[in-house]
Amino acid sequence: MKKIRAALLGAGARGFGSYGPYATRHPQRFEFVAVAEPDPGRRERFAKEHNLAPENCYESWEELLEQDQMCEAMLICTQDQMHYEPTKLALEKGYHVLLEKPISPVPQECLALAQLAQEKQRVLMICHVLRYTAFFSAIKEIIEQGRLGKIISVSHHENVGYWHQAHSFVRGSWRNSKESSPMILAKSCHDMDLLLYLIGGHCNRISSFGDLTFFKEENAPRGAAKRCLDCPLESKCAYSACKLYLTDNTDWPTNVISLDTSLRARIEALRTGPYGRCVFHCDNDVVDHQVTNMEFSNGVTATFTMCAFSKLTSRTLKIMGTEGELRATTVGDKIQVLPFLTGQVEDITIPPATTGHGGGDEGIMERFLLEIERGCNSDDPITSPWISSHSHMMAFAAEKSRVSGKVLDIEEFTQQFK
Ligand SMILES: NC(=O)c1ccc[n+]([C@@H]2O[C@H](COP(=O)([O-])OP(=O)(O)OC[C@H]3O[C@@H](n4cnc5c(N)ncnc54)[C@H](O)[C@@H]3O)[C@@H](O)[C@H]2O)c1
Repeated sequence: MKKIRAALLGAGARGFGSYGPYATRHPQRFEFVAVAEPDPGRRERFAKEHNLAPENCYESWEELLEQDQMCEAMLICTQDQMHYEPTKLALEKGYHVLLEKPISPVPQECLALAQLAQEKQRVLMICHVLRYTAFFSAIKEIIEQGRLGKIISVSHHENVGYWHQAHSFVRGSWRNSKESSPMILAKSCHDMDLLLYLIGGHCNRISSFGDLTFFKEENAPRGAAKRCLDCPLESKCAYSACKLYLTDNTDWPTNVISLDTSLRARIEALRTGPYGRCVFHCDNDVVDHQVTNMEFSNGVTATFTMCAFSKLTSRTLKIMGTEGELRATTVGDKIQVLPFLTGQVEDITIPPATTGHGGGDEGIMERFLLEIERGCNSDDPITSPWISSHSHMMAFAAEKSRVSGKVLDIEEFTQQFK
């Protein structure tokens, strides 16, 4: 296996924290040779970790992509609205690209990038990392082995977690759909993609309902301050920033609020930064609950519920087939298979992953490198940017349905963006 060299655009939480460690763990297989990151602290942190010379550190993706192609691969880990332009340019320059989800908040751009990768015969893989976890791979295998018979219906829940919603979708980077993208794309594109992966075929029709119900000004308790540090009600509030960020945990999500994770720096971040704001006094507009109904080309129906209000951050699903039922939860990575004929229940526990996203961050990197060795996306649908675009179309259509109240035909919906 040859060693693949890559440049990174955006050395934030994902670039530095999820894909950086892969290079550190597998120096014979993968190496970063350049980085583009405007934040000097983040840029230096990445350069130090990966021994990059100053001339290989750029202040923006624009500057890095002005240079001649410098290596085979590019990892694009900038924010949602900064995916399309650098990916387009990188593919045109000849890079193979691993692009963070979502592909783009604009439907046309998702399809255009899949088309461009195909034309240029380059690998373009979208970081739908859950497909590459041992947990969801095991579920897929059980379905493919026919142990559940013909799949008839799937019920899937994304339990976001009350604190995770507050961190990312009320105070944080994905709180406002105009700055990032709607919740069903920003967060639940993983779930649209998982449903497509597990069910197969394509999604024919979709409808969706949901709203931002709780994290709004009008629900602020009387007397609540604009910032948790100043709030007389802080001790009674489950969503208090002090409870979330001023604990012994200095890893994610605490390390998002400040590069310096000393208590003093964190208190300062809560005093002045976005993460110290009261959850009822933010500029958020993304939903805190949403339900989506789907009908697939193979006749399978599916329901998906995203909800902020859960204790744990997890996914739970039930797959119902003609020969048996499968129940699964990412809490402890437990899968239960209940065959109708024998009644012999099988309990499977997937061993805990040692790397991020249940091993998905590691798994997708391995697959990306394999695809590069093959030269472009293989025929295997697991890595296809067209499949990722289709699951993105499901998310766009669900959002359109949520807002318009209509049931959408996905093919018709997609046609208008071609
Ligand atoms: N696959 C997953 O499971 C998963 C999980 C979380 C986030 N994400 C996605 O990953 C992406 C990055 O998320 P994050 O949490 O790392 O965000 P982040 O804000 O921590 O990182 C983005 C980085 O891009 C940098 N940046 C800004 N302008 C730039 C420019 N012109 N050139 C180069 N870099 C620039 C920022 O300074 C920042 O460091 C987002 O699109 C997000 O939706 C994916």
